[in-house]
Amino acid sequence: MTGAAKSAADLAAEQAAHWNGPGGQGWLRAQARLDHSLVEIGRRVLALANAQPAEKVVDVGCGPGGTTAALAASVGPAGHVLGVDISRVLIDAALTRRLANATFIAGDAGTHPFDAASADLIFSRFGVMFFADPVASFANLRRALKPAGRLAFVCWRPPQDNPWSLVPVKAAAPFLPPLPRPGPEDPGQFSFGDRARVERILTGAGFASLAIEPLDVQMWMGKDVADVVANAGRFGPLARAFAEADPESVTKAKAAIAEALAPHVTTEGVSLPGACWLVSATPG
Ligand SMILES: C[S@@+](CC[C@H](N)C(=O)[O-])C[C@H]1O[C@@H](n2cnc3c(N)ncnc32)[C@H](O)[C@@H]1O
Repeated sequence: MTGAAKSAADLAAEQAAHWNGPGGQGWLRAQARLDHSLVEIGRRVLALANAQPAEKVVDVGCGPGGTTAALAASVGPAGHVLGVDISRVLIDAALTRRLANATFIAGDAGTHPFDAASADLIFSRFGVMFFADPVASFANLRRALKPAGRLAFVCWRPPQDNPWSLVPVKAAAPFLPPLPRPGPEDPGQFSFGDRARVERILTGAGFASLAIEPLDVQMWMGKDVADVVANAGRFGPLARAFAEADPESVTKAKAAIAEALAPHVTTEGVSLPGACWLVSATPG
């Protein structure tokens, strides 16, 4: 059974509940580890976006504001960054940064009434794959862009290209309740994996001059296997299954994850391949 029959309203409510509940809390708890894992991807998408002094930027799905802070430094005191996130808990964390030239708003970036033609840059690191109606949401973002503005974001390629996610999930799955299996059009972490779908969404929303380039990275997962296993199931696809499983099954799942990760230990810690799309476009 997939979620294909759910309405857009149901899917949007599910995403809002997830990111205001376990998803947001899990992301916050793992923030230091995630910032470490995502540093290279962040560097690459920020370079693609190339924010300039005095520009106005929107950071979509800004989470606790790590990329918002980097963008705020690039645009300087004459510029401004608006961080938008559906998760109140993550916006509260972002607000503690007290950035002089950034504002944070809790809300759905797909429907937020941005000032029309006000932004030079719409940016996101992994914050655009969760819209219930992606064409309408990207059309809303496009309306916020100045005619000469640009869109730049990074999203994951499919799970099979992302062993950092797939290896632990495949190892643990036999010991856990069934994992969520989102339909191909449902929101979720890997919902922009299909390049043709990304093109269809952006073109449907009115964007032009699309560039969708692969980015391959090594994802740091933790300092050693024990460290990764201790944090397994804190967020992501395993979180709900771990929460629903009995303690014995969780122990077995963790042992299986440890075995599957053993070949991926490097001198720097546990590291597995990750695969993204770096996407840019203009408002057409
Ligand atoms: C994978 S996290 C990325 C967070 C942050 N961009 C980073 O790289 O650290 C996805 C973020 O998108 C946010 N999000 C999901 N749906 C959203 C929506 N419709 N509008 C705004 N934010 C959304 C989530 O709350 C979450 O903070």
